[in-house]
Amino acid sequence: MQKILTGYEEHARACAEALKTKEYVRILALETSCDETAAAVIANGREILSDIVFSQIDLHALYGGVVPEIASRAHVEACDRVIDEALKAAGLSFDDIDALAVTYGPGLVGALLTGVSCMKGLSFALNKPLIPVNHIEGHISANYLSHPELKPPFLCLVVSGGHSHLVQVPDYGVYELVGQTVDDAAGEAFDKAARVLSLPYPGGPRVDALAEQGNPDYLPLPRPHTEGRYDYSFSGMKTAFLNSCHKMEMKGEELPKADLAASFRKAVVEALVEKAMLAAEELGAGQMAMAGGVSANSLLRRRMQEECQKRGLPLYMPQLRLCTDNGAMIGSAAYYRLMRGEIAPLTLNAVPALRLV
Ligand code: KG4
Ligand code: ZN
Repeated sequence: MQKILTGYEEHARACAEALKTKEYVRILALETSCDETAAAVIANGREILSDIVFSQIDLHALYGGVVPEIASRAHVEACDRVIDEALKAAGLSFDDIDALAVTYGPGLVGALLTGVSCMKGLSFALNKPLIPVNHIEGHISANYLSHPELKPPFLCLVVSGGHSHLVQVPDYGVYELVGQTVDDAAGEAFDKAARVLSLPYPGGPRVDALAEQGNPDYLPLPRPHTEGRYDYSFSGMKTAFLNSCHKMEMKGEELPKADLAASFRKAVVEALVEKAMLAAEELGAGQMAMAGGVSANSLLRRRMQEECQKRGLPLYMPQLRLCTDNGAMIGSAAYYRLMRGEIAPLTLNAVPALRLV
C-alpha cells in the first residue's frame, strides 16, 4: 500500500512540475463546504469553461438554516452528477483535465469530507494531481474570473456567512489579515435579522430585496466599537435590532418589515464600508476588491462604488453569481496554487476551522 501511495505522490509531483510551464492548464474543481455542491472547469485560473452549482437551499429551508447531516448526504448524492455536468458543459472528458482541485476548509466537517474523499478517489483513479484549496481564498479568487485584468496587490473585503475579514493580497496566494469581526460575521448577522422578520432561509438576499422598499433611517442602530482599528463587530447592532423587534411584537404592533430591513442593512453596510475605506486610506491601497456571499448585497455594492470613486480607488467585485459559493472560484485559486507547486498528498483531510492566514 505504502508503495502505491509513494508512486502516486511521486507521479503527482512530476505532473504538477510539468504543468508549471504548460500553456493551457485545465482544472476540474469541486466545492462542498456548506450547502452548495458545485463543480467547474477553469482554464489558466481565469477562464470559466463550465460552472455547475447544485443548491441545497430547498432541502434546508424547511429547518430555517443548514442542517449539517442533510448537507453531507446531499453532497454524496450530488458530487458525481455535478462533476459529470461540469465536464459535459465544457465539452470535455477526464482525459482533457490536467489537475483536480477541492475545498478542504473552512466549512462543515461532513460536507467538506464528502468533497475531499470524492476528489482524492478521483485523483488516485485518474493519476492526476490534486490541489487543496481554502474556501476563503476561493472567494477572493472569484475576482480573477470576473476581472481578467486584476492582479495583486489589492485590499479585499471578504464578507460571507462565516467570515468578515479585511485582507491585504500583496501577491497571488499571499494574504495578510488586516481586520476581522470580533463576533458575528456580516452574513450571519443578516441571516439572524431575517429570521426575526420571519423571512425564509437564506435570509441575507431576502433582507436585501425587502430593504429596497424601506426607510433606512426608520430605526437608528448603534455603531460598532472595536479595539482593533480595522476590526468589525455586528453583535451590538444585531441585539439592538432583535430587542426593538421583540418590543414591537410584545406591544402587538405589526413589524414594518421593509423599514426594519432597510435600517439593519444600512447599519451593517455602513460599518463595512467605513472600516474598508479607513484601511484603504491608511494602508495606501492602490486597488480594492470585495468577495463572499454578502458582496452580492446591492447597497454594499453601491456604497463601495461611491466611496471608492470619491477616492479614485479602482474597485473590483465578482459578478453576482460568483459572490456566493461556486466551484469556479476554487478552480481559479487552485491554478495559482499549482503554479507554486502546492499539491495534496492522499492523506489530505478536511479542516473545518482552516484559517486563511
Ligand atoms: O459566501 P457564502 O455563499 O457562503 C459562506 O462561505 O458563508 O455566503 C453566504 C452568506 C449568507 O449569510 C447569505 O445570507 C449572505 O451570504 N448573502 C447576502 C446576500 N446574498 C447572500 N447577504 C446580504 N445581501 C445579499 N444580497
Ligand atoms: Zn462561501
